[in-house]
Amino acid sequence: MAEIKLPEVELNIYSPKNPVEVTVVENYVVTLEASPNFVRHITFDISGTDLENRVRIGQSIGILPPGQDSKGREHKLRLYSVSSPTSGERGKPHLISTTVKRTIEEFEEKIYLGVASNYLSDLKPGDKVKMTGPSGRRFLLPENAEDFNYLFFATGTGIAPFRGMIMELFEKGDYKNECALIFGCPYRTDLLYPAFFNEMDQKHSNFHYLPNISREDRRPDGSKYYVQTKIEDEKELLYPILRQDNTLVYICGLKGMESGIYLELLKQGLSDYVEIKKELPENLNDIPRGDFKKFVKPSVRTFEEVY
Ligand SMILES: Cc1cc2nc3c(=O)[nH]c(=O)nc-3n(C[C@H](O)[C@H](O)[C@H](O)COP(=O)(O)OP(=O)(O)OC[C@H]3O[C@@H](n4cnc5c(N)ncnc54)[C@H](O)[C@@H]3O)c2cc1C
Ligand SMILES: NC(=O)c1ccc[n+]([C@@H]2O[C@H](COP(=O)([O-])OP(=O)(O)OC[C@H]3O[C@@H](n4cnc5c(N)ncnc54)[C@H](OP(=O)(O)O)[C@@H]3O)[C@@H](O)[C@H]2O)c1
Repeated sequence: MAEIKLPEVELNIYSPKNPVEVTVVENYVVTLEASPNFVRHITFDISGTDLENRVRIGQSIGILPPGQDSKGREHKLRLYSVSSPTSGERGKPHLISTTVKRTIEEFEEKIYLGVASNYLSDLKPGDKVKMTGPSGRRFLLPENAEDFNYLFFATGTGIAPFRGMIMELFEKGDYKNECALIFGCPYRTDLLYPAFFNEMDQKHSNFHYLPNISREDRRPDGSKYYVQTKIEDEKELLYPILRQDNTLVYICGLKGMESGIYLELLKQGLSDYVEIKKELPENLNDIPRGDFKKFVKPSVRTFEEVY
């Protein structure tokens, strides 16, 4: 396998004690049709700050929402993945974007709106925001990115870094390896950036957009369509890619999704993508799902950011 050369990155140029003020330039919904899961693409102008040209795709930025919590303490920082390529949104290095879902919970008959995600979602062009970062040193594309095939597994807003990574891989026009985006969301209306990914799929024979809708249909065995089930359901396409020794797997989104992916890869004998920490039982299904991470961890070929 080609050596995976991860780029050197700078971390926390701006800290929570020393944030930088940036300006919102756009804020729009990224689903094609109305969805109760409101997900927005938000772009910030970072010109004149030390973030310009120093935030890589795969990293996150921090947002400090204004105001205090119920105990009178300043709201704490929340992290958001960058969704624009390292070259900047629309090729402009002074513009960086993120992809934000409004969080909302109903508990004991009361509605709770998540502080930072709703603050960000309500912003208008021209509004100022306190930003920190960047953070994250491993969930990055290698410097020699074009030497590899990629399987990007995303659930929900976990798609954010992959939007930028896919733009980055294909922007120069000479990427020749295979790249697949395996995306999971509850309903068809929750597909994020569908027009962009469909267009990429049609334009590039080496890019494959594989969405999985979990709550509309069931697989023939009654199970849900999840990102990991695509490994089996699209085996003619994915096994040959997974079996090449220059393939890297990236996983981003819901905590827990990684276990299903590792289990499926192990069942197919693709053990290079995980490192075994503790001897596995003969029947992998005997491992309670919540305990899976006691047995395996990502190998050098696997990059995971789940929360
Ligand atoms: C590395 C990293 C990258 C991330 N990237 C992204 C990204 O790209 N996009 C993205 O959308 N998110 C991302 N996240 C998640 C993000 O950081 C926030 O955690 C998320 O937006 C929720 O923050 P919030 O301030 O809106 O909610 P919070 O105010 O922190 O509340 C959290 C949840 O609790 C509920 N809640 C609040 N109070 C109560 C209560 N009293 N009782 C019951 N429920 C309550 C809220 O409705 C909400 O659902 C990332 C996280 C990490 C760690
Ligand atoms: N860098 C990061 O770490 C980062 C970046 C962005 C987002 N995130 C996190 O990613 C999460 C995305 O949530 P969301 O609300 O945007 O997602 P969502 O729209 O609700 O979609 C999640 C999808 O994953 C499915 N799913 C549930 N459990 C699964 C499992 N064990 N394996 C595989 N698929 C599973 C869900 O199916 P069902 O619900 O139908 O079962 C649903 O289809 C958030 O928790 C966010 O904080 C992390």
